[in-house]
Amino acid sequence: MRFEKGFFVGAATAAHQVEGNNRNSDDYALELLPHGGFTEPSGIACDHYNRYAEDIALMKKAGLNAYRFSIEWARIEPEEGVFDEAEIDHYRKVIACCRENGIEPVVTLFHFTSPVWVIRKGGWECEEIVKWFRNYVDKVIQELGSDLHYIVTINEANMRLQIRMISERYRKQMQQKAAKTAAAGEDQVQVGYNLKLMMEGLKKAEEEKRSVFGTGDPKTFVSSCTEEGDLLVMKAHEAAREVIRKRYPDIQVGLSLSLHDIQSVPGGEENAKEEWDQEFLHYLPNLKDDDFIGIQNYTRAVYGADGQLPNPEGASLTQMGYEDYPEGLYHVLCRVHESFPGNLFVTENGIATDDDEARCRFLTTAISGVMKAKSEGIPVIGYICWSLLDNFEWQKGYAMRFGLVSVDRKTMERTPKKSLHLLGSYAPEE
Ligand code: BGC
Repeated sequence: MRFEKGFFVGAATAAHQVEGNNRNSDDYALELLPHGGFTEPSGIACDHYNRYAEDIALMKKAGLNAYRFSIEWARIEPEEGVFDEAEIDHYRKVIACCRENGIEPVVTLFHFTSPVWVIRKGGWECEEIVKWFRNYVDKVIQELGSDLHYIVTINEANMRLQIRMISERYRKQMQQKAAKTAAAGEDQVQVGYNLKLMMEGLKKAEEEKRSVFGTGDPKTFVSSCTEEGDLLVMKAHEAAREVIRKRYPDIQVGLSLSLHDIQSVPGGEENAKEEWDQEFLHYLPNLKDDDFIGIQNYTRAVYGADGQLPNPEGASLTQMGYEDYPEGLYHVLCRVHESFPGNLFVTENGIATDDDEARCRFLTTAISGVMKAKSEGIPVIGYICWSLLDNFEWQKGYAMRFGLVSVDRKTMERTPKKSLHLLGSYAPEE
């Protein structure tokens, strides 16, 4: 069954994960540090920077009508206030290529990576980030806004807070382990866990980071945040929304959020409520004037009285280690709609797996959830799958395969998977 005319069915990428050689970005620099924490560097990624036309043609052939991609701040403004016209022109061509293929470009202005200069100046904990981001966005919109209808300002604007919560949980576990170690009078807790070595690694990482960013604790977008830092992301979003609307009031603007389907077992209701507040509700005052919210859901998180529960026994897990749970998308759409009556745009949803049949099953269930939500009156305007290509999954490198199209890492040859065609089969008739 196809969606009705006007509904977007597409695939997503992010600049750093597919373009290659994003040399002026914080991530690229971190990937090259021996103790930077990355499995492998992004390198030329999927060479999408040079092969975007081929990739867009694949989407067109499969029948998709939307492509969500990001514009890379580190390319556009490699030094503060210095804008690279050739790079702006590059994205102008990508947008034109989408249009020529009848594909709606859904542009993300920020997808996790910042220019190194931003981080050297204090990054995402410095109040000036709002001004820096606004200036960058203003330039992009001035140059490219005339051909855009949908803009996601910041990808997963709640990610900083999620990282803080994960880090806190991890720190607590480590402290408990360390206490046990001290009690036992040894520093080798178990095979594969050596505190001394870990501390040495951390020290080296700090020194290396200091040499690049001038601080051993750089405030990148994907670092843990303070409460003020969490709010700064929202202020940056609001500033971007304002400059976009000033120049092009008709552009539909929103941000995207990483949203788990938060559930509870008896006793866990309070924890689950608190989690939903952190992940979503407390941002509402900053989003209420947006044209849409970008929904990004991958799995569920179940809470008990003592916090998040482990994956259910026997559950099928994705390569990322979380539960394969495509039903979550429908639940999240319903839940967000309870507090935000405006349009919802599924800007990411997908599964990391080598088994494309599993991806097809995932998409079928997730999309039927979208159809159900729409039939119940929830204003969902599009479904965009993560991801078009098997790409660079941040610290985990290239081993995670989210793609609808595989990429040969040696030759860069693209091979569409069955799931790409399945997704296309839901797109509205032209
Ligand atoms: C991010 C992507 C990432 C994907 C899969 C989202 O959190 O926006 O950049 O690759 O999830 O983990």
